[in-house]
Amino acid sequence: MDSNPASGKPCASENPPTRAETSGSRSAPLPEDREMVEARAQYLALRKEILPESDTQQRQARARHRLYTTVLDGNLTCCKLPSRVSRVLDLGSGIGCWAVDIARQHPEASVTCVDHHPVRLHDAPSNVTFHVADLNRDWPVEPNSLDLIHIRAMSDDVVSWPFILSQALQTLRPGGQLEVSEIRPRFWDFDGQFSVTDALPEGEQMSVELSAKMGVDLDPSANLPMWLDDAGFEKAAQRSEILPVGNWSKDAKLHQRATLYKDLLELSGWEGKSRQLFVSSGWDLPRYTALVNRMKESITQGGVRVYMTAVFTTCRRPADEQ
Ligand SMILES: C[S@@+](CC[C@H](N)C(=O)[O-])C[C@H]1O[C@@H](n2cnc3c(N)ncnc32)[C@H](O)[C@@H]1O
Repeated sequence: MDSNPASGKPCASENPPTRAETSGSRSAPLPEDREMVEARAQYLALRKEILPESDTQQRQARARHRLYTTVLDGNLTCCKLPSRVSRVLDLGSGIGCWAVDIARQHPEASVTCVDHHPVRLHDAPSNVTFHVADLNRDWPVEPNSLDLIHIRAMSDDVVSWPFILSQALQTLRPGGQLEVSEIRPRFWDFDGQFSVTDALPEGEQMSVELSAKMGVDLDPSANLPMWLDDAGFEKAAQRSEILPVGNWSKDAKLHQRATLYKDLLELSGWEGKSRQLFVSSGWDLPRYTALVNRMKESITQGGVRVYMTAVFTTCRRPADEQ
C-alpha cells in the first residue's frame, strides 16, 4: 500500500527478499534458530540500556515529537478523532511528549502511558497515568476499553507485530482506532542517481539483512496493512510523507521538515538507531563507524536529493462485530 510518494527511485530494490517481509506473509513464518533468538536477545538487551530520561534521550524525544507533529501540520494524530475521547493508550511513551499533549487537548480523556522504564512525567496533567510494562508481553489495560492506541517510533523494540496487533484488537473498544507511525529505514532519491556502490544503498541493505537475521522488523510499515487485515482490523490506510535528508529542498514546508529531521539525526548521532543492530550482529565499531561516515559523506557531497518517508498507518476495530 505504501508507495514512493515522489517520482524518485528507491535506494535498494523495491522488494528485497528479507525475512522481515516473509515473516509477515500469509504463508507459515520461517522457523527461528537458536542463533537468531540469541542475537535478538542481545540486541533487545542493548536497546534496554537506553534510558528515556537521560538528557540525550529527552532531547531526542522532543525533537522526534516536533518532527512528527510538524509533518502532521501540527496535529497529534493522522486519524480523525471524535470530539470526545474516553481512553487513550500510548505504547512506549518515553518521557510522554505525545501523551501529555493529547491529554491537554482532550481533558475529558484518561491517557495511559506504558514504557518498560519507569519515567517521571514532567508537567503532566492529572488525566495522564504511567505504567511500567513490557509491550511485548501483557498490557496493563482492560479488554474492549480503549478509544485510541498510539504507537510511534517503536519498530526497533517490537518483537512481533502480529502479537501487538492482536493485543490492540482485544483492548480497543469496537470502533476504537489504532495509529502506528514510523520513519521507514529506507533512502530514496528524487533523481534516481544512487548507484549500487553508493554507501546509502549499502548501509540500507546491510541493516535490512542484519535485522532480518535476528527476526527484528525495522520496516513494519511495508507489512502493516496485511497484518492489520489478518488481525481483523478494518479501514486500514497509510499516509506517506517526505522527509528530505540534506539541505536540498527549496520548498518551505519540506525545508522545515529537513531541518527538524537533521536535528533528530544529529541528536541520535546518526548511527544511534542502528548501532545496537550492527554490534549485536558482530560488527566492530570502527567498521560500523566507517560505513556511517561514508553514508554521511554521500549525502553532503553527492548533490543527490535524498529523502526518507514517515508513514502513518491508521485503522479501527470493526464497530459491528458478529
Ligand atoms: C524510540 S523511543 C519512542 C518514544 C515515543 N513513542 C516517541 O514517539 O517519542 C522508544 C521507547 O520505547 C520504550 N520501550 C522499548 N522497548 C519497550 C518494551 N518492550 N516495552 C515497553 N516500552 C519499551 C523505550 O524505553 C523508549 O522510551
